[in-house]
Amino acid sequence: MAPFYSSEPKGPSVKTKIPGPKAKAAITELDKVFDTRSLNMLTDYNKSVGNYIVDPDGNVLLDVYAQIASIPVGYNNPALREAALSDDMISSLINRPALGNFPPTDWANVLKTGILKVAPKGLNQVFTAMAGSDANETAYKAAFMWRRQHERGGAHVEFTEEEMASAMLNKTPEGSSELSIMSFKTSFHGRLFGSLSTTRSKPIHKLDIPAFDWPQATFPALKYPLEKHAEENVAAEQAALQEVEHLILNYHVPPCAVVVEPIQSEGGDNHASPAFFRDLRALTRKHNVLLIVDEVQTGVGATGKFWAHEHWNLEDPPDMVTFSKKAQTAGYYFGNPELRPNKPYRQFNTWMGDPARALLFRAIIDEIERLDLVSNTARVGDYLYSKIEALAAKYPGQFENLRGKGRGTFIAFDNPRRDEFLARAKGFGVNIGGSGQWAVRLRPMLIFQEHHADILVEALENIAKSW
Ligand SMILES: Cc1ncc(COP(=O)(O)O)c(C=O)c1O
Repeated sequence: MAPFYSSEPKGPSVKTKIPGPKAKAAITELDKVFDTRSLNMLTDYNKSVGNYIVDPDGNVLLDVYAQIASIPVGYNNPALREAALSDDMISSLINRPALGNFPPTDWANVLKTGILKVAPKGLNQVFTAMAGSDANETAYKAAFMWRRQHERGGAHVEFTEEEMASAMLNKTPEGSSELSIMSFKTSFHGRLFGSLSTTRSKPIHKLDIPAFDWPQATFPALKYPLEKHAEENVAAEQAALQEVEHLILNYHVPPCAVVVEPIQSEGGDNHASPAFFRDLRALTRKHNVLLIVDEVQTGVGATGKFWAHEHWNLEDPPDMVTFSKKAQTAGYYFGNPELRPNKPYRQFNTWMGDPARALLFRAIIDEIERLDLVSNTARVGDYLYSKIEALAAKYPGQFENLRGKGRGTFIAFDNPRRDEFLARAKGFGVNIGGSGQWAVRLRPMLIFQEHHADILVEALENIAKSW
């Protein structure tokens, strides 16, 4: 297949150790004013192109980490550059609106031709936000307000004096219990205050931060290869669902919503079957608890469907779907009009998203459609998976628990020396990320093609041979 972008390099080129002398000097300078302890690679964004990331020493790496899974259509994509230079974009950037108060005249059109054009089936409205954590937190707020509105008897019922007084004391009124959001163990939903209470991936994210007393259910730990462990895996999923139901019915702070990632990403690329998610939908519906699907990392094509939850074939859509990362903008989709709070200003902030980023998402969607990038990702993902499957057979212990079959390029495997594996990868010309404790996670862009997969697989084999 012809390359999507002719200006891309033919392959990686590693000239120095990474970081090289120029990067080292720049990092020392930067560290005086900015914490560099999480720095992975200093990047020259002017020189990076397509699937290739370039550093200050001129090292060119095939990037299958893509800014933590957030670059959809390549560095310096010409179509996005064109959108960036448009009058609409310039106006959005220099006249940033407070969207709740002063939306631009054409905001409905920007939404309909962009964010809402790709709305998940059954959901036709959006609340825009600025990042993944923000999208989740605002969705949680919508869930709390929805539940209380039901308890009060409808949108028209006024708040009582007691409710208003206790709200100012950070309390719920006498006799009414607090509500919670249920999440799953090893999940990741962000690091702002509210979202952090639902994040359960690593202690380092949560230490010292006050958190809500909210329930967590076990996420089924599937065993691989799936074909060999079918019965055990069904049992693990059934046990997890029973736990969810038990917590809904018995947790001392009752949940009004369950939030779940279609594939737990930061927590280690943990999958569950479509049947598990269909049952979770049925269970939440049965108990009148909302289902929030967090597609911040899985959304926008990477799994070979535009939204990963399309793989589940739900008849009854999720109540809310949150998005960010590859969308560049963020927010939550919903369909039920009752998820709009009963009064204005209950769900509000200064910017409420960003029209510039919404325009960018529109250009990204156009590019995805023009090049049929979701189908591309499904096809290339199958190709890549089968090549890594062959590596797994050839190098036992190095590509363990290979997962993500039929999920586009959203592929991962475990390696017992994962951190060193990732460090070595740079020397072989690829930039790869990890997730959880042991997973090597692949998150190529949607413009990743078979010839890129060949380069990646060759590098993976070289790493395996190099121990
Ligand atoms: C599934 C999921 N939800 C939420 C977030 C938080 O997004 P952000 O870092 O933009 O706040 C992330 C980030 O990695 C994520 O992977």
